[in-house]
Amino acid sequence: MLRGKTAVVTGASRGIGKAIALGMAQNGANVAIVYAASESSAHEVLKKAESFGVAARAYQCNVADWNEARSVCEKIAADFGSVDILVNNAGIIKDNLLRRMSEEDFNAVIGVNLSGAFNFTRHLSRFVMRSKAGRIINISSASGIMGNPCQANYSAAKAGMIGLTKTAAKEFSGKNVTCNAIAPGFIDTDMTAALPQAVKERISTTVPLRRMGTAEEVANLAVFLASELSSYITGEVIRVDGGLCM
Ligand code: NAI
Repeated sequence: MLRGKTAVVTGASRGIGKAIALGMAQNGANVAIVYAASESSAHEVLKKAESFGVAARAYQCNVADWNEARSVCEKIAADFGSVDILVNNAGIIKDNLLRRMSEEDFNAVIGVNLSGAFNFTRHLSRFVMRSKAGRIINISSASGIMGNPCQANYSAAKAGMIGLTKTAAKEFSGKNVTCNAIAPGFIDTDMTAALPQAVKERISTTVPLRRMGTAEEVANLAVFLASELSSYITGEVIRVDGGLCM
């Protein structure tokens, strides 16, 4: 479905980003695996991607850093020769009640989740616009739609990504580039692993489908949005949340 395309996925060494990178590779796309720190995990994802018969490379980058992001984006474009698909997935949480949240934790979460998505979109847009059917996919969150106690920083960043998505969709539409956001609900990854079991069980009872989602269930939508099957969908926010935000 994605044969001959090149996909860049940030935060691809684990969790949802890993599932997306492997989903793209399984469907024929070459993949640039952008990771923050864990070289060994990124290497494992790279090897698995290559097993699908595509080209894969790993790049260490703090997406929140403008200059670092710029040089990595330029390297990716030079290495692969083109970039068709960008998935802004890298994200962190630093939860606390708003009245106790530090300026540092607020800025850190905005920096990775929102500025990181801006940096990669900004630095790769000229390459994605050269693709005949470029795709930008931003991983937002149910928290960005509904708000969530203890997540003022995170929900602001994720809501910001929705604004970024719609603006990019409008600005890049003339070049046939689509830009959409995915808003996952509670997904079983390292990010949610730290939650106490009782909290997880309570969460699951509030989800109409009565369970957490899997990283692959999010990746399935990312692959669809990257493909020709989604050619007339842009500026959209699609929930993968078991009905949580209905
Ligand atoms: P995770 O914590 O397992 O993975 C996050 C990835 O982002 C990691 O690979 C990490 O190394 C990378 N990352 C963090 N800071 C970075 C930086 N400065 N530069 C480059 N990479 C960086 O989390 P998960 O669950 O896989 O989350 C992926 C995305 O999905 C995030 O944007 C998250 O906010 C979003 N999301 C997750 C939900 C969940 O329930 N797990 C729900 C809604 C959204």
